[in-house]
Amino acid sequence: MSGSTDVDVVVVGAGVAGLTAATTLAPHRRVLVVSAGAGSTRWAQGGIAAAVGPGDTPEQHAADTLEAGAGACDPEAVAVLTTEGPGRVADLVAAGARFDRDAEGRLLLGREGGHGRRRILHASGDATGVEVARTLELRARELGVSWLDGRVTGLLVSRGRVVGVDVGGRQVRARAVVLATGGLGHAYPVTTNPTGVTGDGLALALLAGATLVDVEFVQFHPTALWTGAAYGQVPLVTEALRGEGAVLRDAGGEAFMQGRHPLADLAPRDVVARAVHEVMRRDATPYVLLDTRPVADLERRFPTVAAACRAHGVALASVPVTPAEHYLCGGVLTDGWGASDVPGLYAVGEVAATGVHGANRLASNSLLEGLVHGHRVATRLARELPASVVADAELCALAPATACSARARELLGGAGGLVRDGVGLADARRELLARPAPEVAWLVAAAVLGAADVRRESRGCHVRSDEPESRPWWRRRIGVRLDAAGVPRAAAEREEWAA
Ligand code: SIN
Repeated sequence: MSGSTDVDVVVVGAGVAGLTAATTLAPHRRVLVVSAGAGSTRWAQGGIAAAVGPGDTPEQHAADTLEAGAGACDPEAVAVLTTEGPGRVADLVAAGARFDRDAEGRLLLGREGGHGRRRILHASGDATGVEVARTLELRARELGVSWLDGRVTGLLVSRGRVVGVDVGGRQVRARAVVLATGGLGHAYPVTTNPTGVTGDGLALALLAGATLVDVEFVQFHPTALWTGAAYGQVPLVTEALRGEGAVLRDAGGEAFMQGRHPLADLAPRDVVARAVHEVMRRDATPYVLLDTRPVADLERRFPTVAAACRAHGVALASVPVTPAEHYLCGGVLTDGWGASDVPGLYAVGEVAATGVHGANRLASNSLLEGLVHGHRVATRLARELPASVVADAELCALAPATACSARARELLGGAGGLVRDGVGLADARRELLARPAPEVAWLVAAAVLGAADVRRESRGCHVRSDEPESRPWWRRRIGVRLDAAGVPRAAAEREEWAA
């Protein structure tokens, strides 16, 4: 293979984080976006949280983020997110994004779980992701960003540095590779994420020698539409509905969030998901009901939810909902500017662990993180690129999926679901480790189950029935790396989180 560099930077993924990085970098560097599909951004109903309303401040937004994160956020990273957020939202508006406004042109701000006030920008009610994607894709076209459709199936690594990507046999050399591949939804049986979001970025990073952290913190959205499906993507029923007065009820009509948390139906997402799970078990029902009668003008204000209900023959007034995998709070360990611990490899958005989400992401902080960290990694790479590497590179490639992937998904959905326990985790891991394979589903399941097994406490969205308390000793991260045999190994870090 030639030692020349084809582009300066390859961005893998075309969601909010990837396209923010690519469009910010394009005036300064030769950038190539490689994308296998639209990713999760388009599906985001809930919007962008940012302290842009009268009387709101980045400090108040940070306080809510830290509270939701259950003691596991990096306060400095949270301050960066909430302070830089309003500027990045302004950039998006300048690029043409149309957010919902009142008759006087003021931004209409919604409320979602864990937020102490109205702070969420939406577009077309519950179609925020579509507007964000439209704006950034248009900007990328205006700037002439190069684009390659395809799945990155391997990273090129030379002397411990990432120097390019393999796209189904076609190799592209670059001085920096930015992973912006989103989460791991389809590593689980049921998820709100679109098809194709399987955890590729996590697996590629592991194979290249990078460290993952916080991957036991998998967020289950409390209100996915119950469709009866045992596999695949299920529609989201946005939390913004509860922000406008919708109430969760059990089969007997009781509003069961009252008395469980001071914010009741607007408690942080982990609290609501746990309560829904408990009620479903207690009543032996596969769903609870979201009573939307208090929400005025629902069909006009929440067209995406209304269309999903219609498509599934569900009455809008009382929507059957159930928790489903939604978001990975951890990911590839990065510094505040997107760099992983492998030279040449960067990560932004859901695939990255910047420390802002801790053990439970605050609602609508994910599009914001994509904007802020997409911009940050671009700023860094515009300033300075890693040195060019001329030596031959080795290909660290994902193996094609086999039947083993389906089993890995079942094991992760069972033992790594909303409520976990040590026996289930150990059994699932034993079965997985009996057949190591560099397939995405296998690597991702082994990483998440390993980290969940090591964390012997409950915190945020990591809930263990055998360890129900949060413990001070566990105020530290769990890192996952591949061992010499290619098996993800999880271990607690020595250092504690900043208090
Ligand atoms: C929602 O609309 O409920 C989801 C928003 C998010 O995941 O932050």
